[in-house]
Amino acid sequence: MPFLRAEISAKILEFLHKKMNPSIYTIDGKKFYITKEVFNPKYAFTSKFIVENLLLKSDWTVLDMGTGSGYIAIQVADKVKSVTAVDLNNTAVRCCKINIKLNKLNNKVKVYQSNLFSALKSEKFNTIIFNPPYIKGTPENMLQLAWLHNSPETLIKKFAAESRHHLVEKGYIQIVYSSISGLKFIKKIFQEKGFKLILEKKIRLLWETLNFLVFQLEH
Ligand SMILES: C[S@@+](CC[C@H](N)C(=O)[O-])C[C@H]1O[C@@H](n2cnc3c(N)ncnc32)[C@H](O)[C@@H]1O
Repeated sequence: MPFLRAEISAKILEFLHKKMNPSIYTIDGKKFYITKEVFNPKYAFTSKFIVENLLLKSDWTVLDMGTGSGYIAIQVADKVKSVTAVDLNNTAVRCCKINIKLNKLNNKVKVYQSNLFSALKSEKFNTIIFNPPYIKGTPENMLQLAWLHNSPETLIKKFAAESRHHLVEKGYIQIVYSSISGLKFIKKIFQEKGFKLILEKKIRLLWETLNFLVFQLEH
């Protein structure tokens, strides 16, 4: 059954993205130029769900992991000190650069192409936000990197292990994950890496439950 749900989710995302043309979309009051190769948050539940629930402080530095169009980075920029955004997809990085300019946030948000933390050297952040690909499958193009991964569990393990080195003491990971890919393992992985779960919120959709999880670095 979870396999079928994952298939349905992947098909819906594929269908929605095929229908969308490269254009400037207004989403929650901000402008986003989005091409066909980049995840479009307009019709995605995860992006909005994460932004609505984020813990943020005005003196925080933020890392938006897997920024896509820059949706999360741009939505939170006015509420924090600065945002660094990264994505593996080069076209996403190009769109994000355009969107930073469109929203006049050049002094607040910077973006790099990066495979997880590879481009970041020793920079540390108060919080790292991630809306990750969580459906098991082989991506056939850069767009599908947004929702498919050969092993979502391996990606999260690597992210949790590396994020320790990019957080300040008692820093926070804020992540969204779906019931179709399981939640027990994600909680276990972060626990094993020295984080404690401090907040969990759920939203029930037709075929999956999305979970917003906040982990704090303990030791
Ligand atoms: C679900 S999309 C989220 C996009 C955006 N944050 C949002 O909420 O609208 C996941 C993003 O993660 C990126 N991604 C996937 N694997 C990655 C990796 N190993 N390193 C960095 N980014 C990655 C994808 O290219 C995609 O843009």
